[in-house]
Amino acid sequence: MSHPTFFVKSYGCQMNMYDSKKIVSILENKGLRQNKDIETADLVVFNTCNIRDKAAHKLYSDIGRVNKHKKEKTIAVVGCVAQAENEEMFNKNKSIDIVLGPQSYHLLPQMIDDLKQNPKQLNTEFIVNEKFDYLSEQKRKQGVSSYLTIQEGCDKFCSFCVVPYTRGPEYSRPLISLLNEVQFLTDNGAKEIVLLGQNVNAYNISHHGRKINIADLIEEISKNKNLERIRYTTSHPINMSDDLIKLHATNEKLMPFLHLPVQSGSSNILKKMNRKYDTNLYRKIIEKLKAANSEIEISSDFIIGYPGETDDDFKKTLDLVSEIKFTQSYSFIYSARPGTKSSFEEDKTPLSIKKERLSILQDKLKDIQFEFNKTFCGKDIDVLIENQSTSNPEYFFGRTPFMQSVYIKSQELNPGDVKNVNISTCNHKNLYASC
Ligand code: SAH
Ligand code: SF4
Ligand code: F3S
Repeated sequence: MSHPTFFVKSYGCQMNMYDSKKIVSILENKGLRQNKDIETADLVVFNTCNIRDKAAHKLYSDIGRVNKHKKEKTIAVVGCVAQAENEEMFNKNKSIDIVLGPQSYHLLPQMIDDLKQNPKQLNTEFIVNEKFDYLSEQKRKQGVSSYLTIQEGCDKFCSFCVVPYTRGPEYSRPLISLLNEVQFLTDNGAKEIVLLGQNVNAYNISHHGRKINIADLIEEISKNKNLERIRYTTSHPINMSDDLIKLHATNEKLMPFLHLPVQSGSSNILKKMNRKYDTNLYRKIIEKLKAANSEIEISSDFIIGYPGETDDDFKKTLDLVSEIKFTQSYSFIYSARPGTKSSFEEDKTPLSIKKERLSILQDKLKDIQFEFNKTFCGKDIDVLIENQSTSNPEYFFGRTPFMQSVYIKSQELNPGDVKNVNISTCNHKNLYASC
């Protein structure tokens, strides 16, 4: 055995985390053992994210740090930075041995063996169906809330985004392999499945001549008796079909919470971003969702300081936030990514202004989240218990249907139970209860 122990470090989105779990299975099946710390592992796998400049930069400083500890390590860089930077990575950092794109993880065991013949191993091809055939076999127990990638890649080409280049075109996994994986996950304790995809609601396959979309898939999955909750993320507004919206009225396992990134509240900016909708269309989708299920809450991603964003554009974003009242959101300063369309656009806004806008937006989002959480104080709500807190074992952690984190002081809860609890206090991040 040339590499007895390994450590996998994840940098990216939920799909990146899901891939990391699969990589752990692949390596364990190869006979390697997971190591609890990065310094003493023989093989370190960096599963990278290229979405913003910062994540990509951090990789190189992390590689530098592990090198100092042990020289005879094997270093594999996989994921979206590997795909984007390709063989160039070997020049940037000599200690990298393997560069592997996100659609070829199944080749990792072979590449480790091939290091003996060739000390630099590279693969950045898009062989996505082969990947999923192989990964379907690498089943791995997750938790009460388990992820399931149903779709990968993106054909939308928003002007700022690297994903179409790093993950390739949209690909949906076959129904049977997904249902098998759901069965495996629920047999091993999953009560909630979070369907994942870069454009999860673009899921589309043909099964025995019948077209199956995400709404059909959710209906199929919800037949699993052990499953309590289903979520899906991330959705693109233009793929919010009427079928899917209607399902929020009829399917009780489908949670009334939806991550539907708008990015900006200015139709001008949305056009420049190539988002394929304007704010009116976005509003209409939200109206339809609320008409289907009045309880539904929305979260979003925002990009602040896109090239050419004016004070007025930014004000429109703030106005939309006040109107929709997004209950949880992520917001980032625009990062110019090499090769994307917007990276060629002139960007005159000083960073200080962008930072100021971001902080105004984040304060507003925080206030709205806090106000929303406060409406639960003194009320009863169903919480899916996920685990006992490791730092404070008097508390259990769970989530409401709206994804709020709840800490419950109790000695007798079981992970996997849905417990109706009375909320006593909250802050903008968490709800608290005891029972
Ligand atoms: N497919 C999803 C988003 C995937 S990327 C969608 O279309 O909504 C996750 C988030 O990263 C995006 O929603 C966006 O807000 C952010 N992001 C992507 N590229 C970025 C960039 N160049 N700079 C800053 N944030 C970016
Ligand atoms: Fe990126 Fe746009 Fe595709 Fe989302 S829809 S992954 S933001 S290109
Ligand atoms: Fe990052 Fe790739 Fe996910 S760029 S956000 S790890 S799809």
